[in-house]
Amino acid sequence: PKALVLVGGYGTRLRPLTLTVPKPIIDFANRPMIVHQIEALKEAGCDEVVLAINYRPQVMMDFLKEWEEKLNIKITCSQEPEPMGTAGPLALARDILYNDTNTPFFVLNSDVVCEYPMKEMLERHLATGAEATILVTKVSDPSKYGVVVMDEDLKVERFVEKPQVRFCTSSCSSCCCAAVVVMDEDLKVERFVEKPQTFVGDKINAGIYCLSPSILNRIEPRPTSIEKEVFPAVAADGKLYAMALEGYWMDVGQPKDYLTGLALHLDSLRQKRPEQLADGDGIQGNAIIDPTAKIGKDCLIGPNVAIGKFCEIGDGVRLSNCVILNRVTIKNFSLIKDSIIGWSSKIGSWCRIEHKAVIGEDVFVKDEVQLNGAIVLPHKDIKESIMEPGTII
Ligand code: GDD
Ligand code: MG
Repeated sequence: PKALVLVGGYGTRLRPLTLTVPKPIIDFANRPMIVHQIEALKEAGCDEVVLAINYRPQVMMDFLKEWEEKLNIKITCSQEPEPMGTAGPLALARDILYNDTNTPFFVLNSDVVCEYPMKEMLERHLATGAEATILVTKVSDPSKYGVVVMDEDLKVERFVEKPQVRFCTSSCSSCCCAAVVVMDEDLKVERFVEKPQTFVGDKINAGIYCLSPSILNRIEPRPTSIEKEVFPAVAADGKLYAMALEGYWMDVGQPKDYLTGLALHLDSLRQKRPEQLADGDGIQGNAIIDPTAKIGKDCLIGPNVAIGKFCEIGDGVRLSNCVILNRVTIKNFSLIKDSIIGWSSKIGSWCRIEHKAVIGEDVFVKDEVQLNGAIVLPHKDIKESIMEPGTII
């Protein structure tokens, strides 16, 4: 089968990292996000992956050349003249995706991480005779996602993108003793449920689909949303099915979720491929460290840490819940916690970087500086502490 990955979009929520490279190329657990996906597709027997892109194509093309060989799979680029949303790109790549043999294809959002059960999805898709099979997972706050309501056979009854959930009674904030109103983005009420026993929609679209070629007949090559325009129509025809995802899932399109996703991914590696995790003195919990990274004496690293290629970590450095991208230098006795350090940045001695700070590419941080939740743009020289979280500099 073929696959299409929705790469487009500016990735604004992952700035300043996305000022340097498109989101799917940012390393996640020391490999570009999209490489995790392409590997899973290759393993499921895919022979071609189309990257649907509307932004900075050259960076993507250069990246493709390298990985096409490494992963031994055909990777092509379908460039949009303008952002075409999440469905338009499928129509644009129709020549590649459409076939007379009714062979299904995969579509993936580029920012979702999980164990990618592509083979099982394909089997299930063929077994139910669905036109579209979507992977679903459970989250505590469904309002940021596409909510999927299914029957017992996992046939999807309704698909509501980013529902606005409101409670009727002002005195009560719990949905089990109030009436729940589910609305679409235009505040059109989709559902009204009086005192539901459990909230109807905590199952959400995980952003991974197996689709039959006939779905392409529903999509025009214009900016359009698969979630808002295509899935509701397929559901209304009774041809939309869900498959429940096993294991972890995260949309890593923003720093906090990216760090949470890393922790979940490392947990899963601990279960399935523990040899990929670091061990030894000074390692606490899960950490993944590239073999080219140099680590000083008496460091304490972990849990939930990724250290990329050619990093140089000094003595007595403390790292936890953080990502150190390639070629970063951290001098002695600094602490990095709950933060991301961009490529080639240089962190001095006795620095303290924490509270979801995100440091862009090639930033210099002077000795003893504290960065508390700061967002630092690429190529900055930081000489003074920043204590106010969210400060952009
Ligand atoms: N080629 C292209 N062109 N890709 C696009 C465009 C576009 O115009 N717009 C968005 N994308 C890509 C994004 O890069 C991302 O990989 C994917 O489409 C989804 O867009 P997001 O902006 O990340 O959407 P979301 O996270 O708010 O919601 C989507 O993902 C959720 C799961 O993470 C929806 O599919 C939800 O239903 C879903 O629950
Ligand atoms: Mg997303």
